[in-house]
This record gives sequence, C-alpha cells and structure tokens, in this order.
Amino acid sequence: MSAIPHQAIYADRRARLATQLGAGGIAIIPTAPERTRNRDSEYLFRFDSYFYYLTGFTEPRAWLVITAEGHTTLFCQPKDLEREIWDGIRLGPQAAPDALGVDEAFSVDELDARLPKLLENRHTVWYPFAVHAGLETRVDGWLQKVRARVRFGALCPDAQRDLCGPLDEMRLIKDAHEIGVMKRAAQISAQAHVRAMRRSAATLRAGQDLREYHLDAELLHEFRQHGSQYPAYGSIVAAGANACVLHYRADAAPVRDGELVLIDAGCELDGYASDITRTFPANGRFTGPQRDLYDLVLASQDAAVAATKPGNRFVDPHDATVKVLAQGMLDLGLLNKNDVGHLDDVIAQRHYFRFYMHRTGHWLGLDVHDVGSYVEPSELGQLSERKDPLSGETIKDRPSRILRPGMVLTIEPGLYVSPAPGVPEHFWNIGIRIEDDAVVTEDGCELITRGVPVKADDIEAVMGE
Ligand code: GLY
Ligand code: MN
Ligand code: MN
Repeated sequence: MSAIPHQAIYADRRARLATQLGAGGIAIIPTAPERTRNRDSEYLFRFDSYFYYLTGFTEPRAWLVITAEGHTTLFCQPKDLEREIWDGIRLGPQAAPDALGVDEAFSVDELDARLPKLLENRHTVWYPFAVHAGLETRVDGWLQKVRARVRFGALCPDAQRDLCGPLDEMRLIKDAHEIGVMKRAAQISAQAHVRAMRRSAATLRAGQDLREYHLDAELLHEFRQHGSQYPAYGSIVAAGANACVLHYRADAAPVRDGELVLIDAGCELDGYASDITRTFPANGRFTGPQRDLYDLVLASQDAAVAATKPGNRFVDPHDATVKVLAQGMLDLGLLNKNDVGHLDDVIAQRHYFRFYMHRTGHWLGLDVHDVGSYVEPSELGQLSERKDPLSGETIKDRPSRILRPGMVLTIEPGLYVSPAPGVPEHFWNIGIRIEDDAVVTEDGCELITRGVPVKADDIEAVMGE
C-alpha cells in the first residue's frame, strides 16, 4: 500500500499537537462510528474531522493515540480477505506505518487490551469532549484497568482534558494545502450553481415542468462529475415562498415563472466543505421588487466583505451587513419610520430581525459550521452584559474573535419577507440570501466562490445564454 498523499502534512499536525499536550500527556482520537440507515444498510461513511485532520485516513473503525513525546499509534481494521471482498481493501496495521507515517499500528480488535498499557504512567488523558457518545465511558474502563495496577507501581492519569481546545485552534487557521482543497471545492460548487441556474431558465423557456428536485439533480451531477464525494450539507433548493424557510430542503415544489429560487448548496471535496447561496429568478429575469431587495442584500454583502480583514473582529462583517440592511428596510418601506424610528433605533432595538434573523457567517473548513472559538482567546476575561431588546434576556458577551490570515468564513446576508400587514405586498414571500466563502488574507479577504456570478445583471446574463 503506497503512502497517502500529503503524508508529511498530517505528521506535522500530529507533532504540533503533541507539543501542546504537556509533560506526561496522551491524546486519544477516534474516527466516526458507522451508522445504520436501515436493517443492515449503513449511511455512507464520513470520517471524523479531527481524526482525518491528523491522519488523512478515511477508513472506519480507526483510532489514533499521540503522546506528548510525539509517539503515534494507530488502531485500524485488520486485514480480512473475506470482509475485503464485500467492503473493499483495508490498509491493515502492517502497512499503516509506512502509508500514514505513524510509529506503530495494531488491529482495532486490540484496542481495549492495549489502551490501558498506553495510559499507564501518563499524567493527563486528552480526548475530544462531547463529540463521541460513550467515549468517556470507554476511557473510564481503560483507567480502571490502569488503577488495578497501581499496587504494582503503575501511575494512573489524574487529569482529563478536552482535546477540542488545541485542535480547534489549529483547525481554525487553514494551511496552504487546506486552502488549495477549499478553493477547488468552491470552484466545483460555483459551477454547480451556474448549472442549476441555466437549467431553470432553459426548462421554463421550453414551457416544461420544473421542480426543486430537478435543480438538486443538476447540483449533484456537477459535484460528482468533478470528484466531490458528497454534498457538504443537505442542499437547500427553495422555490418562491419556500425561500423564507431558512432550513428548507430540496423537495418537490414546482419552480414557477416569475418567482425566485434560493439555492444554498456546496460540495465536500476531500473532507473540506464549500457553502454557497445564490438567489436567482427562475426564468432568468428579476422583477422590479425582486431586484430592489436583491440589490440591497448584495450591497450589504459588499459592506461585509469590506469588513472582512485581519485585525477586524468576527462580528464586524455582521454589523456592517445589518447597517446596510436596516437602512434599506427603511428606504424600501419594509419598516415604517413612524413605527421604528431612525437607523440607530432599528439597529439598537433589532427591528431588522423580523426580516434578517440569522448571523452573517460562520467558520468553514472540514465541517460546514467549522470549529474554532468565536471569542478572542486573548480577551477571555473581558465579560460584558447587555439586555436583548427583543427577548429581554440578559446576554453575557465576550470580545469577538480578531480575524487573522488563514481563517475561512462565510459571508451570507439575507432578507426574508413573510406576508404581514404593513409590509408592502410586492415584497411578500421573497426570500433572498447571498453567500460566499472568504479566506482572510494579509490585507483583506479573497472570495473563493465567485465562479458563480453574484450581480443581478451577471446572473441574468448567465441565465440568458
Ligand atoms: N448551508 C448552511 C449555512 O449556510 O450555514
Ligand atoms: Mn449555506
Ligand atoms: Mn453558511
């Protein structure tokens, strides 16, 4: 079995993690469990992101153990000719050290026998807290076995620590390899959105029936055609009023001439997610009111993009978005000045929340809502309190994360107008979101998802071709 590509990258991550475990530390990282879908059929296996980040190894039933000294042990499925005929070739423990660059490897069937020995005479056991159901119990079982040997002079670890802390910080800053993969994922997803837009206009022009699932099929085709393993999350393909349901899934609703379609979909490529939303006119031409709202959301996204730069904070793009959207809501009559006052009041009292009820972004990486603290670690102690004007709840805030080069986040403002008295009727049932993926650079950010047009004119042009 040949070495996995980029073996050195994973070895370097393991070494960097080892230096953070403290004297006598040891870390245990399982991959994800296989899950039954029905009877003896399983869901398509997706490895655990932490495990993959440290190994690049994609087989199920695998564990990694790292000591503070940097010694690495892998447990993996043993070679088994009969099982391999059914399920595919396994790497096996004999080939694993060469293929993965770990120091030693054993069959996963030996895990319970070997773990107590590995834990003996260590001080601190690290593992991801609250990620793998039942892991704490298994660690307890191994520690019991170590404790049974203390009368023979063994030392039992006396501390457990959450491995998510150091790993999340590492994963938050993407290296060149990760950014390369994410750019390819973004490019595939962008092409998929273009494909769906074109299908929509072409099918309606031909006078044929068009359903949300037809557009979903175009996305899936493009993802798989370019080697993506699966969608990074359940694709949202929402026609007309369905766009106002934030977590709507691609379903069977008809896509009608004159309505907008909101597609929030991105592929996963070699473990990394992309996350794009575009909203486009089903027939390829925006109506006046659709265009008014669309241009407002795009202007708010432009403001957020300008605020996405090193030294700024994670909340800055959100605040920039809200300012533009709130002013637009007043200008377009979604909010009535006589009821809600001026821009400052709309922001302070969160009147905009009625039409814009989510955050403007999240970290993106191996997970679509990727790991990484949204609080600035160097300012953890600075707690402030505020009363939320809508719920009346007291909220304790810590300073938002300072953006640094190598962080990747989405920028995804939206507007969702449900029918209600006082809301201009020509805006009813319009839901718009525009989402791009941004890599923070030395002096700003790079949008890696602009392979799909975003300006209204450019969307119309691509759909008219
Ligand atoms: N597609 C999930 C999100 O935009 O956060
Ligand atoms: Mn999305
Ligand atoms: Mn997103």
